[in-house]
Amino acid sequence: MADTGLVRYLKVDTTTPISKIGLGTWQFGSKQWGYGKPYAEQESRAIVRRAIELGVTLFDTAEIYGRGSSERILGAAIAGHRDQVFLATKILPIAPLPPVVQQRAVASADRLGVSRLDLYQVHQPNPLFPDTVIMPGMRALQRIGLVGEVGVSNYSLDRWKAAEKALGSRVLSNQVRYSLAAAGPAADLVPYAEQAGRVVIAYSPLAQGFLSGRYDERHRPDNSVRSFNALFLPANMERAAGLFRVLREVAAAHDATPAQAALAWVIRSPAVTAIPGASSVAQLESNVAAADIELADDEWRALLDAANRFRAVTGPASVPGMVRARFARSPSRPGDAGKGGGDQGESGDGGQPDA
Ligand SMILES: NC(=O)c1ccc[n+]([C@@H]2O[C@H](COP(=O)([O-])OP(=O)(O)OC[C@H]3O[C@@H](n4cnc5c(N)ncnc54)[C@H](OP(=O)(O)O)[C@@H]3O)[C@@H](O)[C@H]2O)c1
Repeated sequence: MADTGLVRYLKVDTTTPISKIGLGTWQFGSKQWGYGKPYAEQESRAIVRRAIELGVTLFDTAEIYGRGSSERILGAAIAGHRDQVFLATKILPIAPLPPVVQQRAVASADRLGVSRLDLYQVHQPNPLFPDTVIMPGMRALQRIGLVGEVGVSNYSLDRWKAAEKALGSRVLSNQVRYSLAAAGPAADLVPYAEQAGRVVIAYSPLAQGFLSGRYDERHRPDNSVRSFNALFLPANMERAAGLFRVLREVAAAHDATPAQAALAWVIRSPAVTAIPGASSVAQLESNVAAADIELADDEWRALLDAANRFRAVTGPASVPGMVRARFARSPSRPGDAGKGGGDQGESGDGGQPDA
């Protein structure tokens, strides 16, 4: 594994060490992100290859991303580098009986072109079936070696513990939305993971770009994922002014971009890894470089306080604004730059039901 001096790894005992910054690949082949054919066919591969070169090991995908496209693109991109990668995918737990779980794991492995899934995650808690239904299937997959570690996603702390009981061994990780725009896990999941030797995988750590500084009331991202993310409403951009100000200050003190400071905040706990998505190699490089930033206690606390003061308009109250914004938008993707080569500027999260 390349030692860049930048990438750091979690201290949990896994077959391949898990990098503190990984790569989320929902974007690969996804119509919702709208990055187009050149991204799906070339840029995504270049992003994965550069990530591997830099020592990134954790790559996250799911069977539903682009209906299998993400798994296929990622699988092709890691070919020849399988032993340098900690490969994580997810099952959407519809009718999660053991034969179904086994068939779906085989299908994911096939799309990825691998004989083993390092981490197989339950994408969402199924409200109808307790984890005693899905975990026997997961256990059998571990027994035959198709699955290394079992994980969950979008689980509460209680349900994570219940899942572990149902599996009968560790459920290594819980992948949850965690960022300065969704700081809830800092209060319960993260302390639990620290104390129990488990891992929180932070998804949407940049709140889908809201924390990047790239967007403001006049320059809003234009794709269907973010059209349905209430954070990008002008009213929420305004409400986040205080958070953005502190983020800019902390970033400047480290000669970093707001995106890098936002990632450094998320991964400060030894039990947390983040999986930002990237629309370019430059963003990937910038995100990886964020692992090198060590925030002081008072900086971390100032950011948490600012995050807690930010109250976004969400839920039903955000619907009229989203409808208005959808019909009166001014799309924009201002330019790239930054420490380690990412985007610059300053500029919180909504919900992505299918991600
Ligand atoms: N388990 C779940 O339910 C779930 C849910 C959501 C996501 N996920 C996983 O988590 C991953 C990441 O989450 P996400 O994609 O929702 O959100 P994210 O990582 O917070 O945001 C990714 C977006 O932010 C922008 N960005 C990335 N790096 C940047 C940089 N250095 N400077 C400026 N902008 C930057 C890019 O968009 P632009 O360049 O277009 O602005 C990029 O597509 C996904 O790929 C997926 O693997 C899981």
